[in-house]
Amino acid sequence: MGLFWHSCILLAIFLQVAIAASVPEQVHLAFHGDTSEMAVIWTTFYDGLHHVYYGTDVKNMNQVAIETSIKKWTSGSVTRYSHRAKMSNLKPSTTYYYKIEGRVFEFKTLSANPQSYRVCIFGDLGYEHGNSTDAIIRNGLNGQFDFIIHVGDIAYDLHTDDGRRGDAYMRRFEPLFSAIPYMVIAGNHENDGKNFSNFQERFWMPHNGFNDNHFYSFDLGPVHWVGLSSEFYGYDREYGKESIWTQYNWLNTDLKAAVSKRKSVPWIITYQHRPIYCSIDYNHDCSEFENTFLRSGALGLPGLEPSYIQSHVDLNFCGHQHAYERFYPVADRKYYTGKDVYHNAPAPTYILTGSAGCHTPAAKFSSEPLDWSAFRSDDYGYSLLHIANATHIHVQFISINQHEKPTDDFWISKDPNHLDAAMRSFKTGQIPRSKGTLSPILLKNNFSRNSD
Ligand SMILES: [Fe+2]
Repeated sequence: MGLFWHSCILLAIFLQVAIAASVPEQVHLAFHGDTSEMAVIWTTFYDGLHHVYYGTDVKNMNQVAIETSIKKWTSGSVTRYSHRAKMSNLKPSTTYYYKIEGRVFEFKTLSANPQSYRVCIFGDLGYEHGNSTDAIIRNGLNGQFDFIIHVGDIAYDLHTDDGRRGDAYMRRFEPLFSAIPYMVIAGNHENDGKNFSNFQERFWMPHNGFNDNHFYSFDLGPVHWVGLSSEFYGYDREYGKESIWTQYNWLNTDLKAAVSKRKSVPWIITYQHRPIYCSIDYNHDCSEFENTFLRSGALGLPGLEPSYIQSHVDLNFCGHQHAYERFYPVADRKYYTGKDVYHNAPAPTYILTGSAGCHTPAAKFSSEPLDWSAFRSDDYGYSLLHIANATHIHVQFISINQHEKPTDDFWISKDPNHLDAAMRSFKTGQIPRSKGTLSPILLKNNFSRNSD
């Protein structure tokens, strides 16, 4: 082969690599404010400012979202650029098209103040052994749910192989995540030893004063959603204890505001990666110090459950343990059962849903579940919430093992005249004493890892 053809082949390879590297990828959406806004986040492997063109006509995308930030970051030997923009002035219940550097995507907005919508919730989903992946993508694209909450442990791990595992996971899900919001919270597998950098750079959750993705809240119709970090507790020795106080002070302020407007936003749903309650055999996260620390606090540091109880949180979701388990309403291990216990429930209802599928098998249930354990399944799957209205929520566990049938199915409800009951209990309850100041999150750079 002559020099000319060698040169042509090399040029073709160079152009192919250059073109591949210049395409915005891993495009995904997130809620950031009311339904008239939508955040869009994407990754490139080169520097360069992009604009997002969007509109209701695919041939005339006449609105433009200027990038609010572009950030260069590295994971091992790989340099990436994280891009963020916000599409605004969106009309309700409308299909929008958006274009980034020639790539076109579409999504449909919810109604202006949606009183009814569906949410897919799960934890612990790997790129490898992602047993629920196909079903989540297919059912999401078929309109079975309006957004996703992933309660930590993403891709196993986002940072593996210098982040290429995270790239592969986000590319796999791009058809769905570019069409409906993907809301996330960090699990222990997001600790990359560099202050959760892969988690912080790849996603863009609502700010609420702390632009770090670790804790945030947003209102959507009748629900106040709150995402929290359990990893401040899991890695307190590595990163310091100040983050626990920072989050705790923010949480109580946030919940107090949520309770004050409960007549118009009656439901409060919280989520964090590690469980408050679970019935897994010989497991420190269910029954030993680690559980006590997160749930009720220890060593002079506050836990999460007192705030949940006093603000009358309705539902809490978690993962970390690779199983599904639903509990009867429970407050500080005092539980409530009975025929209509989920109607005007006197305490929060906890749901473990960490069995979406990953490299380790299902968790082994203890032979004697907690007395307030209502349903357990070690099938792979995800939870599906139907926010029906201000008084009713339908919860199902969709089993992958059983051909996507709902194997757990229950309603939680409240009378219209009980919508503000939590406000009264909050006013009369005692808020745990807090201390500390708001400070930067996660101070050090070291880590150890749990396997779940
Ligand atoms: Fe975990």
